[in-house]
Amino acid sequence: MKLRSIELALPDPAGAAAFMTHIWGMAPAEVRGDTHYLRGSGPFPYLVAFEKADDEFVRSTTFACTAEELSGLRQRIADAGWPARPTRSEDPGEGEGILVELPEGEILRFLVGAEDVEPIAGRDLPVKLTHVVFNSADAEASGHAVEDVLGFRVSDRTKGMVFVRCNDSHHSTAFARAGFSSLNHIAFEMTDIDAVMRGIGRLRDSKLAPAWGPGRHGPGANVYAYYIAPFGPVIEFSTAVEKVPDDYRVGAPKDWIWPPNRIDQWGISDKDFEGLRVAEERFRFRRDWDAAPIGN
Ligand SMILES: [Fe+2]
Repeated sequence: MKLRSIELALPDPAGAAAFMTHIWGMAPAEVRGDTHYLRGSGPFPYLVAFEKADDEFVRSTTFACTAEELSGLRQRIADAGWPARPTRSEDPGEGEGILVELPEGEILRFLVGAEDVEPIAGRDLPVKLTHVVFNSADAEASGHAVEDVLGFRVSDRTKGMVFVRCNDSHHSTAFARAGFSSLNHIAFEMTDIDAVMRGIGRLRDSKLAPAWGPGRHGPGANVYAYYIAPFGPVIEFSTAVEKVPDDYRVGAPKDWIWPPNRIDQWGISDKDFEGLRVAEERFRFRRDWDAAPIGN
């Protein structure tokens, strides 16, 4: 199973796409109606969709999976009684599968048969999304729920987060202990640390400084630089997230305590806690579809 894309709704999709293309450094994939699709250098047809809406919300976060994985998901989701429905993607790459609403409202989409595209060589683009993190009223319960129903695995727990994986990457999602439910941030996988630093340079050219970073995290050990996008959400350049074995020992908050004056491995970054929190509250979740039998 792989994290593939996130589908956002917002009032100015063209403006958001222009920022992500010209400053953040993505490539345009396609425009369908009012929806702008942006891609990276990897084989996914797009990583981010911006559709036009009066309000800001997350339509879905999409995972690519196998038919066997989808079959297991159908069974367990139906057994759990979570709101879900069959879906056929009308986004680039198409494919079909299911939409499901998690207990705190996050909408995940699982697709099989979505087509890949030819990777792009020789350009300084994000490769793919590496994680999408959600704020949760009860992150612990969300972690248990996705383990039990989706077959994801908790990799680490910290004072602030429950990190969850769906393959051998340390985390593809996480639930932040926020006390409310919303999009926390979207992280783009860069080729290497130099690509992260060049990204910071591109944003510096536009007078934009990281809201947090650069730095290197504890859990997952990935390098990061977080920004508050002009169109609202928190977005991250990231690279080198740890690969973990099946028997990875799940870390507890007591395993991840920083020394004084440190909130990352390098100790060089400041964090705009207040600005990040405001941005993290902007994009909520919205289910504008009715549940329907998903079969199994
Ligand atoms: Fe992140």
